[in-house]
Amino acid sequence: MRLQKYLSQSGVASRRNSEQLIKDGRVKVNGETVTAMGVIISPETDRVEVDNRPIKTVIRHEYFLLYKPVGYVTTLKDQFGRPTIRDLLADVKVRVYPVGRLDMDTSGVLLLTNNGEMANRLTHPSFGVEKEYLARVRDLPDAQALATLAKGVNLLDGMTAPATVRLVKGGRPTSVVSLTIKEGRNRQVRRMFEAVGHPVVSLKRVRFGPLTLSDMQAGSWRNLTSKEVAQLKKHVQR
Ligand code: URA
Repeated sequence: MRLQKYLSQSGVASRRNSEQLIKDGRVKVNGETVTAMGVIISPETDRVEVDNRPIKTVIRHEYFLLYKPVGYVTTLKDQFGRPTIRDLLADVKVRVYPVGRLDMDTSGVLLLTNNGEMANRLTHPSFGVEKEYLARVRDLPDAQALATLAKGVNLLDGMTAPATVRLVKGGRPTSVVSLTIKEGRNRQVRRMFEAVGHPVVSLKRVRFGPLTLSDMQAGSWRNLTSKEVAQLKKHVQR
Protein backbone atom coordinates (compact mmCIF):
# COMPACT_ATOMS: atom_id res chain seq x y z
CA MET A 1 0.00 0.00 0.00
CA ARG A 2 1.25 3.51 -0.78
CA LEU A 3 2.47 5.30 2.30
CA GLN A 4 0.19 8.33 1.85
CA LYS A 5 -2.83 6.07 1.41
CA TYR A 6 -1.86 4.16 4.52
CA LEU A 7 -1.58 7.38 6.50
CA SER A 8 -4.95 8.62 5.36
CA GLN A 9 -6.62 5.24 5.94
CA SER A 10 -5.17 5.09 9.43
CA GLY A 11 -6.92 8.34 10.16
CA VAL A 12 -3.72 10.34 10.63
CA ALA A 13 -4.65 13.01 8.09
CA SER A 14 -6.44 13.50 4.81
CA ARG A 15 -4.71 12.16 1.71
CA ARG A 16 -3.39 15.61 0.78
CA ASN A 17 -2.21 16.43 4.28
CA SER A 18 -0.59 13.00 4.47
CA GLU A 19 1.49 13.88 1.42
CA GLN A 20 2.49 17.11 3.11
CA LEU A 21 3.51 15.24 6.27
CA ILE A 22 5.77 13.06 4.14
CA LYS A 23 7.27 16.04 2.27
CA ASP A 24 7.92 17.77 5.57
CA GLY A 25 10.01 14.82 6.74
CA ARG A 26 7.71 13.98 9.62
CA VAL A 27 7.14 10.36 8.60
CA LYS A 28 9.44 7.43 9.28
CA VAL A 29 9.21 3.89 7.97
CA ASN A 30 11.12 1.33 10.03
CA GLY A 31 13.07 4.16 11.64
CA GLU A 32 14.08 5.89 8.38
CA THR A 33 12.62 9.23 7.38
CA VAL A 34 10.83 8.99 4.04
CA THR A 35 10.31 12.12 1.97
CA ALA A 36 9.73 10.54 -1.44
CA MET A 37 6.18 10.14 -2.64
CA GLY A 38 4.77 6.76 -3.59
CA VAL A 39 6.80 4.57 -1.25
CA ILE A 40 5.09 1.21 -0.84
CA ILE A 41 4.73 -0.27 2.61
CA SER A 42 3.23 -3.42 4.13
CA PRO A 43 0.79 -2.37 6.82
CA GLU A 44 1.22 -5.68 8.64
CA THR A 45 4.99 -5.68 8.90
CA ASP A 46 6.34 -2.14 8.40
CA ARG A 47 6.59 0.22 11.34
CA VAL A 48 5.35 3.69 10.49
CA GLU A 49 5.80 6.73 12.74
CA VAL A 50 4.60 10.30 12.44
CA ASP A 51 6.54 12.82 14.53
CA ASN A 52 8.24 9.79 16.11
CA ARG A 53 4.96 8.38 17.31
CA PRO A 54 3.93 4.96 16.02
CA ILE A 55 0.67 4.81 14.14
CA LYS A 56 -1.91 2.55 15.59
CA THR A 57 -3.36 0.61 12.75
CA VAL A 58 -6.98 -0.08 13.04
CA ILE A 59 -7.63 -3.29 11.20
CA ARG A 60 -11.28 -3.47 10.34
CA HIS A 61 -12.63 -6.79 11.40
CA GLU A 62 -14.65 -8.56 8.76
CA TYR A 63 -16.92 -11.55 9.13
CA PHE A 64 -18.41 -13.77 6.45
CA LEU A 65 -20.60 -16.83 6.48
CA LEU A 66 -20.04 -19.29 3.65
CA TYR A 67 -22.45 -22.08 2.84
CA LYS A 68 -19.75 -24.56 1.95
CA PRO A 69 -20.83 -27.10 -0.62
CA VAL A 70 -19.55 -30.67 -0.75
CA GLY A 71 -16.41 -31.04 -2.86
CA TYR A 72 -14.40 -28.06 -1.58
CA VAL A 73 -11.42 -28.21 0.75
CA THR A 74 -11.48 -25.87 3.78
CA THR A 75 -8.22 -24.14 2.99
CA LEU A 76 -7.19 -21.08 1.02
CA LYS A 77 -4.67 -22.99 -1.09
CA ASP A 78 -4.55 -26.71 -1.71
CA GLN A 79 -1.29 -28.44 -2.54
CA PHE A 80 -3.13 -30.96 -4.72
CA GLY A 81 -4.97 -28.33 -6.74
CA ARG A 82 -8.41 -29.39 -5.54
CA PRO A 83 -11.24 -26.84 -5.40
CA THR A 84 -10.97 -24.72 -2.25
CA ILE A 85 -13.27 -22.37 -0.39
CA ARG A 86 -11.11 -19.53 -1.75
CA ASP A 87 -12.64 -20.28 -5.18
CA LEU A 88 -16.06 -19.48 -3.71
CA LEU A 89 -14.88 -16.21 -2.15
CA ALA A 90 -13.37 -14.71 -5.30
CA ASP A 91 -15.16 -11.40 -4.81
CA VAL A 92 -14.21 -11.09 -1.12
CA LYS A 93 -11.29 -8.68 -1.25
CA VAL A 94 -10.20 -8.84 2.39
CA ARG A 95 -7.94 -11.59 3.61
CA VAL A 96 -10.04 -13.79 5.86
CA TYR A 97 -9.46 -17.23 7.30
CA PRO A 98 -11.81 -20.11 8.03
CA VAL A 99 -12.72 -20.67 11.68
CA GLY A 100 -12.34 -24.41 12.08
CA ARG A 101 -12.76 -26.85 9.27
CA LEU A 102 -15.38 -28.86 7.44
CA ASP A 103 -14.39 -32.04 5.64
CA MET A 104 -14.31 -31.96 1.87
CA ASP A 105 -17.47 -34.10 1.84
CA THR A 106 -19.29 -32.01 4.48
CA SER A 107 -21.45 -29.01 3.58
CA GLY A 108 -22.84 -26.16 5.65
CA VAL A 109 -22.00 -23.19 7.85
CA LEU A 110 -18.42 -21.97 7.72
CA LEU A 111 -17.38 -18.72 9.39
CA LEU A 112 -14.50 -16.70 7.94
CA THR A 113 -12.87 -13.72 9.60
CA ASN A 114 -9.66 -11.73 9.95
CA ASN A 115 -10.29 -11.42 13.69
CA GLY A 116 -7.62 -13.87 14.82
CA GLU A 117 -8.32 -13.56 18.52
CA MET A 118 -11.96 -14.35 18.04
CA ALA A 119 -11.15 -17.25 15.71
CA ASN A 120 -8.86 -18.75 18.35
CA ARG A 121 -11.49 -18.50 21.00
CA LEU A 122 -14.28 -19.87 18.85
CA THR A 123 -12.25 -22.98 18.08
CA HIS A 124 -10.96 -23.48 21.62
CA PRO A 125 -12.83 -26.30 23.40
CA SER A 126 -13.05 -24.30 26.64
CA PHE A 127 -15.50 -21.90 25.02
CA GLY A 128 -17.75 -24.81 24.02
CA VAL A 129 -19.29 -23.32 20.90
CA GLU A 130 -22.22 -25.45 19.77
CA LYS A 131 -21.98 -26.99 16.33
CA GLU A 132 -25.16 -28.58 15.07
CA TYR A 133 -25.04 -31.17 12.30
CA LEU A 134 -27.71 -32.89 10.28
CA ALA A 135 -26.45 -36.35 9.46
CA ARG A 136 -28.02 -38.78 7.07
CA VAL A 137 -26.92 -42.12 8.43
CA ARG A 138 -27.29 -45.70 7.38
CA ASP A 139 -30.26 -47.62 8.79
CA LEU A 140 -32.34 -46.66 11.81
CA PRO A 141 -30.50 -45.83 15.06
CA ASP A 142 -32.39 -47.23 18.05
CA ALA A 143 -32.88 -45.48 21.38
CA GLN A 144 -29.74 -47.02 22.77
CA ALA A 145 -27.55 -45.80 19.91
CA LEU A 146 -28.99 -42.30 20.28
CA ALA A 147 -28.41 -42.37 24.05
CA THR A 148 -24.80 -43.41 23.53
CA LEU A 149 -24.23 -40.53 21.10
CA ALA A 150 -25.67 -38.16 23.68
CA LYS A 151 -23.79 -39.49 26.71
CA GLY A 152 -20.42 -40.05 25.11
CA VAL A 153 -18.84 -42.34 22.57
CA ASN A 154 -15.53 -44.03 23.17
CA LEU A 155 -13.35 -43.00 20.23
CA LEU A 156 -9.66 -43.73 19.66
CA ASP A 157 -8.82 -40.24 20.95
CA GLY A 158 -11.03 -40.60 24.02
CA MET A 159 -14.63 -40.21 25.15
CA THR A 160 -16.72 -37.55 23.48
CA ALA A 161 -18.33 -34.89 25.67
CA PRO A 162 -22.11 -34.94 26.19
CA ALA A 163 -24.02 -34.01 23.04
CA THR A 164 -27.60 -33.28 22.07
CA VAL A 165 -29.22 -35.83 19.76
CA ARG A 166 -32.57 -35.90 18.00
CA LEU A 167 -33.92 -38.36 15.50
CA VAL A 168 -35.33 -36.08 12.81
CA LYS A 169 -36.55 -38.69 10.39
CA GLY A 170 -36.24 -42.37 11.15
CA GLY A 171 -36.28 -44.79 8.25
CA ARG A 172 -34.61 -47.42 6.16
CA PRO A 173 -32.26 -47.61 4.41
CA THR A 174 -31.30 -44.19 5.91
CA SER A 175 -32.34 -41.88 8.76
CA VAL A 176 -31.69 -38.24 9.52
CA VAL A 177 -30.26 -37.34 12.92
CA SER A 178 -29.49 -33.94 14.41
CA LEU A 179 -26.33 -33.97 16.54
CA THR A 180 -25.07 -30.93 18.44
CA ILE A 181 -21.54 -31.09 19.80
CA LYS A 182 -19.31 -28.62 21.61
CA GLU A 183 -16.03 -30.18 20.61
CA GLY A 184 -14.37 -30.11 17.23
CA ARG A 185 -12.15 -33.09 16.76
CA ASN A 186 -11.12 -34.33 13.36
CA ARG A 187 -14.06 -36.05 11.59
CA GLN A 188 -15.75 -36.28 14.95
CA VAL A 189 -19.35 -36.61 13.84
CA ARG A 190 -18.55 -39.28 11.27
CA ARG A 191 -16.52 -41.22 13.82
CA MET A 192 -19.27 -40.98 16.43
CA PHE A 193 -21.92 -42.41 14.12
CA GLU A 194 -19.51 -45.05 12.84
CA ALA A 195 -18.86 -46.08 16.45
CA VAL A 196 -22.55 -46.75 17.10
CA GLY A 197 -22.93 -48.72 13.87
CA HIS A 198 -24.62 -46.10 11.70
CA PRO A 199 -22.10 -44.68 9.24
CA VAL A 200 -22.76 -41.21 7.87
CA VAL A 201 -24.01 -41.06 4.30
CA SER A 202 -24.03 -37.26 4.10
CA LEU A 203 -23.28 -34.50 6.58
CA LYS A 204 -24.27 -30.86 6.81
CA ARG A 205 -23.47 -28.33 9.52
CA VAL A 206 -26.62 -26.31 10.02
CA ARG A 207 -25.45 -24.13 12.90
CA PHE A 208 -22.24 -22.71 14.33
CA GLY A 209 -22.97 -20.98 17.64
CA PRO A 210 -25.61 -18.40 16.73
CA LEU A 211 -24.98 -18.67 12.96
CA THR A 212 -27.38 -20.51 10.69
CA LEU A 213 -27.74 -20.83 6.93
CA SER A 214 -31.20 -19.22 6.87
CA ASP A 215 -32.23 -19.38 3.21
CA MET A 216 -28.80 -19.40 1.60
CA GLN A 217 -27.82 -21.44 -1.44
CA ALA A 218 -24.89 -23.85 -1.28
CA GLY A 219 -21.77 -22.08 -2.54
CA SER A 220 -22.96 -18.59 -1.61
CA TRP A 221 -21.69 -16.31 1.14
CA ARG A 222 -22.94 -13.30 3.05
CA ASN A 223 -21.66 -10.77 5.56
CA LEU A 224 -22.65 -11.44 9.13
CA THR A 225 -25.22 -9.06 10.49
CA SER A 226 -24.08 -6.73 13.27
CA LYS A 227 -26.36 -8.68 15.59
CA GLU A 228 -24.58 -11.92 14.73
CA VAL A 229 -21.16 -10.32 15.29
CA ALA A 230 -22.34 -9.05 18.67
CA GLN A 231 -23.61 -12.53 19.57
CA LEU A 232 -20.27 -14.10 18.65
CA LYS A 233 -18.37 -11.51 20.67
CA LYS A 234 -20.56 -12.13 23.65
CA HIS A 235 -19.99 -15.84 23.29
CA VAL A 236 -16.22 -15.57 23.55
CA GLN A 237 -16.14 -13.03 26.36
CA ARG A 238 -14.30 -14.04 29.48
N1 URA B 1 -17.51 -33.74 11.96
C1 URA B 1 -17.16 -34.44 10.87
O1 URA B 1 -17.08 -35.66 10.89
N2 URA B 1 -16.92 -33.76 9.74
C2 URA B 1 -17.00 -32.42 9.64
O2 URA B 1 -16.75 -31.86 8.58
C3 URA B 1 -17.36 -31.72 10.80
C4 URA B 1 -17.60 -32.40 11.94
